[in-house]
Amino acid sequence: MKINRLKAKNYSIIIGKNSITSLASEVKKHCPKCKKIAVIIDKKIPKKFLTKLKKNLKKYKIFIFFITSSEKIKNLDQTNLLVNKLLKLNFNRSDLIIALGGGIIGDMTGFVASIFKRGINFINLPSTLLSQVDSCIGGKTGVNSKYGKNLIGSFYNPKVVISDIELLKSLPKREIICGYAEILKHAIINDKTFFKFLKKNTKNIIMLENKILNKSILKSCKIKLNFTEKDFKEKNLRMKLNFGHTFAHALEIQNRYSNNLNHGEAVLIGMLIAIKISRFKNICTPKTLDEVENLYEKFSLIKNLRKHLKKNEILKSIKFMKNDKKKDDERISFILINNIGKTTAPGKFKYKINQVENFIKKLF
Ligand SMILES: NC(=O)c1ccc[n+]([C@@H]2O[C@H](COP(=O)([O-])OP(=O)(O)OC[C@H]3O[C@@H](n4cnc5c(N)ncnc54)[C@H](O)[C@@H]3O)[C@@H](O)[C@H]2O)c1
Repeated sequence: MKINRLKAKNYSIIIGKNSITSLASEVKKHCPKCKKIAVIIDKKIPKKFLTKLKKNLKKYKIFIFFITSSEKIKNLDQTNLLVNKLLKLNFNRSDLIIALGGGIIGDMTGFVASIFKRGINFINLPSTLLSQVDSCIGGKTGVNSKYGKNLIGSFYNPKVVISDIELLKSLPKREIICGYAEILKHAIINDKTFFKFLKKNTKNIIMLENKILNKSILKSCKIKLNFTEKDFKEKNLRMKLNFGHTFAHALEIQNRYSNNLNHGEAVLIGMLIAIKISRFKNICTPKTLDEVENLYEKFSLIKNLRKHLKKNEILKSIKFMKNDKKKDDERISFILINNIGKTTAPGKFKYKINQVENFIKKLF
């Protein structure tokens, strides 16, 4: 199968089956003075990938750090622990840190790389569908705080991203649907044709059918890149990618970042609430809402998540929006939907907490 290379301004994204085999040549190209490599790896990655990776990087001194991934370890304590370990091992800027894991490991490792001696080489090997279609792109790194999600972080690009779709074979279906949520988001905010493709091919994506999967990852990455390359520091256009995320982040905090509700699941719920509000405010037509609801229904996307879509659950979470990065005055900024493929402009729709509460009371 073909391996695709997408070019961003400062790095490439290599996508395809067994693309991990390109790692050695990429390290040589981007980190010519590298001697030591720290690999921060998710404990759930099948051993054969670590073996492959070690075989690829035989000529370097490798240090492996296993992490049990969860939103609860995506914090400053874990960051500090990793930074101290690297300092103790005498890593310097010309060495390299590799993340081999999902969005949690990728975000945190990228953050560690960005602050370690003011920036050490970083390569990302995303291992979940969500991280391959979304979090590996755009240079946002960071960790959570008790005040909210991803509130501490930096913008820092990797030298290269290598997305090997073989890694996805060991993912539970629940995690595949989480990744699909971000693919769907990209279609809803930017590409009606891609949305039509998803209406036909969602089952194949969830079943990890190689060709459709490869195409969907590539398309999703292209859409995200288009936003992040034009507005790296999220001053305006990039905010459109936050569609559904204001509610999603609030619900994740409400659930104490527990396994009860994963990030991608929260995004599925958040998008549905945002589209319902778009309809309620007459920003989109009933047909737009129907199209999205039908797709959710047809592929049972939120079958097991109904308890989070209850009026009281959503109302309880709204207070957590007050620390959201999308808030710049007393009002919270929402990205809403005009049509499939077109969002409202960032900053155009801002509501006070009590207005949001009123919408939810009327809609649920
Ligand atoms: N930086 C960004 O732009 C950006 C964008 C979207 C999301 N995010 C962040 O990404 C995070 C969510 O990422 P995620 O959904 O990948 O979560 P995750 O990293 O926790 O991975 C999900 C689960 O899959 C397991 N796993 C990972 N790879 C596996 C594999 N190959 N086989 C089997 N199991 C595997 C993990 O152990 C975990 O249990 C959130 O913290 C979110 O804030 C960041």
